[in-house]
Amino acid sequence: MKRLIILSLILGVTHQAFAFEAPAYFEKSCGSCHTVGRGDDVGPDLKGVTERRTREWLHQFIQSSQSVIQSGDPVANELFAKFKNKKMPDQDLAVEEIDAILDLIKNGGISQTAGDSRSATTSTPEDVTKGEDFFLGRISFKNGGAPCVSCHSVSEYGPLGGGVLGPNLTQAYSKYEDKGLGRAIKKPAFRVMKEIYSGKELTDDEVFAVKSFLYKADQQGSQNIDFEKKFIFLGGVGVVVM
Ligand code: HEC
Ligand code: HEC
Repeated sequence: MKRLIILSLILGVTHQAFAFEAPAYFEKSCGSCHTVGRGDDVGPDLKGVTERRTREWLHQFIQSSQSVIQSGDPVANELFAKFKNKKMPDQDLAVEEIDAILDLIKNGGISQTAGDSRSATTSTPEDVTKGEDFFLGRISFKNGGAPCVSCHSVSEYGPLGGGVLGPNLTQAYSKYEDKGLGRAIKKPAFRVMKEIYSGKELTDDEVFAVKSFLYKADQQGSQNIDFEKKFIFLGGVGVVVM
C-alpha cells in the first residue's frame, strides 16, 4: 500500500513537472553552493549580482562558466581564483529560464532557511548515533516525517537494507558540503522529498544529527575502496529483486 502511494505520487509529480519553476530550480541546483544575502558559500553570495554584471555575461556564465573563464574574461577569472578554482557546473538552461532565476534573485524572491548552522565536523559520537537512530527510524522525527531509510541507503545499510527510491547517501556530505546538506535536509527541493516532508519539516537538532551521521558515513565510506564495486553489484541484485 505504502509503495502504491509513493508510486502514484511520483507519477503524479512527473506529470506536472514540465513548467519551469525558478524557486524550486534555484533550491535544487544553485542553493547548495550559493546564498542570496547570507554571505559567500562554495560560490559567491548572489545578492546584487544583476547589478554588478550584465545580463549577457550572466547568461553565458551560468550556461558554461568554464567557457567564459577560458575565454580570458578578467571578471570570471578573478572569481574563479577567489573561489579556489572550484568549478561551477554548467546549467542546461534556456536564456528565459536563467532570466526567471535572475529576476527572482533581483526581487528578493528567494528565501532560504539556514538548516542548522553548526557544522557536522564538530559532532560528537553521540550526535552521530542519534542521527543514525533518526535515519533508521528507531527514533521518530518530532513532526512525523518519514525515516530516511525508507527511500535511501547509506554504506552499511543497503542497498538491500535501505530504500532504493532515492540515491545512496554515503557521499552526500562531500557532494553538498556542510551547509548545502543542512539546507537539503531542512527544506528538500527534490520533488518526492518535498511532497513527503511538506508540513513535517525536521527540527534544527534533527537536521544536525542526521547531517552528522551522513558526515561520518562519508568519512568511513571514502576509506572503504571496495565499497563502490560492492554497491554496484548489490544494486544490480536489488533491481532484479524488484
Ligand atoms: C557546485 C557549486 C555551484 C553550483 C551548484 C552553482 N554555482 Fe554558481 N558559482 C559557483 C562558484 C564556485 C562560483 C565562482 C566562480 C567559479 O569558481 O567559477 C560561482 C559563480 C556564480 C555566479 C557569478 C557571481 C558573481 O559574483 O559574478 C553566478 C551568477 C552564479 N554562480 C549563478 C549560479 C546559478 C544561477 C546556479 C544554479 C542554476 C549556480 N550558480 C549553481 C559554484 C556553484
Ligand atoms: C519518500 C522517499 C524519500 C524519503 C523518505 C527521503 N528521501 Fe531523500 N530523496 C528521495 C529521492 C527520490 C531523491 C532524489 C531526487 C532527485 O534526484 O530529484 C532524494 C534525494 C536526496 C538527497 C540528494 C542526494 C544526491 O545524491 O543528490 C539527499 C541529501 C537526501 N535525499 C537526504 C534525505 C534525508 C537525510 C532523508 C531523511 C531525513 C531523506 N532524504 C528522506 C526520496 C526520499
